Parts: sequence; structure tokens; C-alpha cells
Amino acid sequence: MVLLKVVNLHKSFGGTKAVEGISFEVGRGEVFGLLGPNGAGKSTTISIISTLILPTDGEVYYKGVNILKEPNSVRRNLGVVPQDIALYPTLTGYENLRFWGNMYGLKGAELKKRINEVSEIIGLNGRLKDRVDKYSGGMKRRLNIGAALLHKPELLIMDEPTAGIDPQSRNHILDTVLDLNRQGVTIIYTSHYMEEVEYLCSRICIMDQGRIIASGTQEELVGLVKGETRINLKLDRIDRDILQSLEAINGVAGAELVQDEIAVSGENVDMILADIIGIIAEHGMRISSIDVSKPNLESVFLHLTGKALRD
Ligand SMILES: Nc1ncnc2c1ncn2[C@@H]1O[C@H](COP(=O)(O)OP(=O)(O)OP(=O)(O)O)[C@@H](O)[C@H]1O
Ligand SMILES: [Mg+2]
Repeated sequence: MVLLKVVNLHKSFGGTKAVEGISFEVGRGEVFGLLGPNGAGKSTTISIISTLILPTDGEVYYKGVNILKEPNSVRRNLGVVPQDIALYPTLTGYENLRFWGNMYGLKGAELKKRINEVSEIIGLNGRLKDRVDKYSGGMKRRLNIGAALLHKPELLIMDEPTAGIDPQSRNHILDTVLDLNRQGVTIIYTSHYMEEVEYLCSRICIMDQGRIIASGTQEELVGLVKGETRINLKLDRIDRDILQSLEAINGVAGAELVQDEIAVSGENVDMILADIIGIIAEHGMRISSIDVSKPNLESVFLHLTGKALRD
């Protein structure tokens, strides 16, 4: 079932074209990724879906209802985690959650219960009495997520929720996203970290300069690049003629010496690993490490735009 349908969105700020013809659909139960570098138009797209700003052109439907005409139809079903942390630094974590709960019309015992449940989900139950200005960056991010969960939204939109935090908090947030999804929450996840989107998302739109440059499952996207798989091998010693012998294997496009490692490349060299190992053994050499690297979303972005995702 299609939960959200975005049709040909355009948004200009004065002379700046932030979004130029974005269309996509999000199905119920998906973790849908918007991946793109700085300035791609991700936050602008999210602000339009969240009914915070109006597009210059285009439509957005939530369960078939045009939300630009009827914004209230989506608002109570939507949780938005903004890119810029929206918390009161001089209030405690608890007071912040209470404030946001009130904004969603929650109060009394019900609100208290939800604050307890949400603080469990975001892993902050021990720290809610502390003022937010005493929190680490990661804790603030988690509280920011908690604020969007109080009213049990069907659709959670997260705009770079891991920006500028430590790896531990980051992992906690990524696992929270998967947990929420397992409990039935549909998620739109925005990031310029390819690894996060790869880890979380079933379908992905890659954005650049206000447009979608590719979309699909990870498999479909990676299939766009006839990228080569590489196998890096560390050996106990290196014979001169090993490179030639490796290149003679059917399916190997190239073998070269990179510093003290041998790099074997080819479209599907991971499928003929046994042949590669066999040749090395024939030469009487021993392998101390093997590393396989396959084409990923970064390669797709590079292939389509000629530039790296992150500068
Ligand atoms: N309120 C605004 N006024 C003027 N220009 C804006 C405004 N909001 C966004 N822009 C411009 O629109 C373009 C897209 O910005 P947007 O914030 O949507 O990108 P983003 O993909 O979220 O980037 P980031 O990864 O840096 O958050 C940028 O060129 C930005 O400068
Ligand atoms: Mg942004």
C-alpha cells in the first residue's frame, strides 16, 4: 500500500532552485532512503512533506489525500526529526518531552506513560532529569528523535539524525530506526552517509542538485555501475610471475601490485575466489589476509555525477 506519494515537486527560494521535479512513492512499512550530498534538496523536500513550507509546484498525497490542501490530514500521523536540533537547552530532557507532548495534544497520565516509553526507546531513561545543555551531542540527537515519537506517528521522517555524533550514539540511533520499523513505523531516512542508507533502507532515492538521479533497491542501484569487484590479498612473499598467472584466470580483468598487496579485479572475481587461491597455492605462497570490496552506493554516485558523495 502506498502511504506517501510525491509528484513532481519544485521549490525555488528567490533565484535558487532547491528542488526541481522530485517524484517518489513510499510504501507502508518501508525504510525509505533519501541519499545526497550537501545542498541536494533533501531538507527542502522533507519540509514540504512535513507541511512546513509550500512547494512552488507539485503535489504530495498521504493515503491518497492531497496534504497541500489538507495539511491536518497528515500532521497527526507524522513525526519529524529535524536536521537542526529543536530542543530547549535550559529545560531538562523530561521537560522537553513534556513540551513536545503538549504540542501534540498529549497530557496527564497518558503523556507521562508515553514519555517513559519513549525514553526507553531512545535509551535516555536515566538522564531525563538533567538539563539538555548538559547532554552530549548524541544524547541531544536521541532526545530530538524522542520528541517526534510521543504521539506514535505512522510515518517518521528523519533528517540526518546522526549528524555530528559519536559512533556509539550513531549505532544506537540506527538500531532504534530498525526497531521502530519492526514495530510497524514507516520511515523516511535522509543522510549523506552511504553506509547508513545501505544498512537501513529497502529502497533509496539518490539526489543531487534538486533532482533524483537514480532510485531503486540497493541491488538495482549498484547494478547501474558495471563496477568491478576487487580482491586485495596479502601474501607471505610475492613471486614475480604470480601477477601473470592470476591474469590468466578466466574472469580476472587485472592483477597488480599495490604496495605490498596484490589487487585482483574483475566484474565477478568474488565468484572465482577458489581459482585465485589455487593459483597462489600452486606458487607455494601463503595468504595472510583477503579483503573483498564490491561496488557500493558511493560508486553509483561517483558514476552518475563524476564526484564523491562527501567532500
Ligand atoms: N530557506 C532557504 N532560503 C534560500 N535558499 C535555501 C533555503 N533552504 C534551502 N535553500 C537552498 O536550497 C538548496 C537545497 O538545500 P537543502 O537544505 O534542501 O539541501 P540538503 O540536501 O538538505 O543539504 P544538507 O545535506 O546540507 O542538509 C541549497 O542550495 C540551499 O542553499
Ligand atoms: Mg538538509
